[in-house]
Amino acid sequence: MSAFSAEWLDLREPVDHRSRNKALAHALARHFEGWRPLRVVDLGCGTGSNLRATAPLLGPEQHWTLVDVDAALLEAAAARLTAWADGCEAGADTLVLCKGPKRIHVQFRRADLAGDLDAALGPPADLVTAAALFDLVSPAFMTRFAATLATRKSAFYTVLTYDGDQRWTPPHAADPRMLEAFHRHQGRDKGFGSAAGPAAADLLRERFAAAHYRVQEADSAWRLEPEDAGLIADLARGFAAAVAETGAIDALTLADWRDVVRTGALVGHADTLALPPLRP
Ligand SMILES: C[S@@+](CC[C@H](N)C(=O)[O-])C[C@H]1O[C@@H](n2cnc3c(N)ncnc32)[C@H](O)[C@@H]1O
Repeated sequence: MSAFSAEWLDLREPVDHRSRNKALAHALARHFEGWRPLRVVDLGCGTGSNLRATAPLLGPEQHWTLVDVDAALLEAAAARLTAWADGCEAGADTLVLCKGPKRIHVQFRRADLAGDLDAALGPPADLVTAAALFDLVSPAFMTRFAATLATRKSAFYTVLTYDGDQRWTPPHAADPRMLEAFHRHQGRDKGFGSAAGPAAADLLRERFAAAHYRVQEADSAWRLEPEDAGLIADLARGFAAAVAETGAIDALTLADWRDVVRTGALVGHADTLALPPLRP
């Protein structure tokens, strides 16, 4: 079990997909144009949202391995991907999805990324990808991760890494103090040691640049509007609960903050594309 429910991931999926940076997605598609077959590993796959958004950018024959520590989410991923595809064949341990002209082979691997990283990654892949994962990991994990990918010469594409910017509509006088407390909570150990939280995108850029990767980073903020009311309310609830756990804000202020009906929010994210060094 992880802290992420399939229902929460379902709620955020449409917003995640529309928020991804389009220029970076095109750069990824350009890099892999003509590659066939393409081997992809998705880390912390949840219910498979990243595959549903990324596979349309890639070639006609794709082999994905979806990795997560949470067996229930891996099961939910298989069910949602089967429903998403135009057609599907189920093998012993593989799904073969047909989506438009693409054939997408999918395997599932239950693994803890904080443990044996090489085993979690499996054989070298052309592309290692993730969504909404890297703010949970520690700076030390990022160092190990970038070095491991460099050895394997895999490209890396990760989207929706939280970058620390958070603004609510309407604003509340306690927002700045609440955000500070939230960031303290974000730095807690999420299974990898003290988490990078809002520093994650900067650290990823640094670590991959140190491994001589060509790194591009671009904005993928959630810009939530009144029609995203369900997600805004859930987000505010989770945010206030995290702040409450820190004990940094008094109960009256917290109650007053919770009482506000919010009609919008901006949550800053970054997408990162890191391509291995060109061969001399
Ligand atoms: C915020 S969710 C994102 C899920 C999915 N990538 C998406 O965009 O919808 C983070 C995911 O990372 C997984 N995760 C967290 N810690 C992990 C670990 N140590 N090893 C493998 N997966 C992990 C969780 O189970 C969860 O599915």
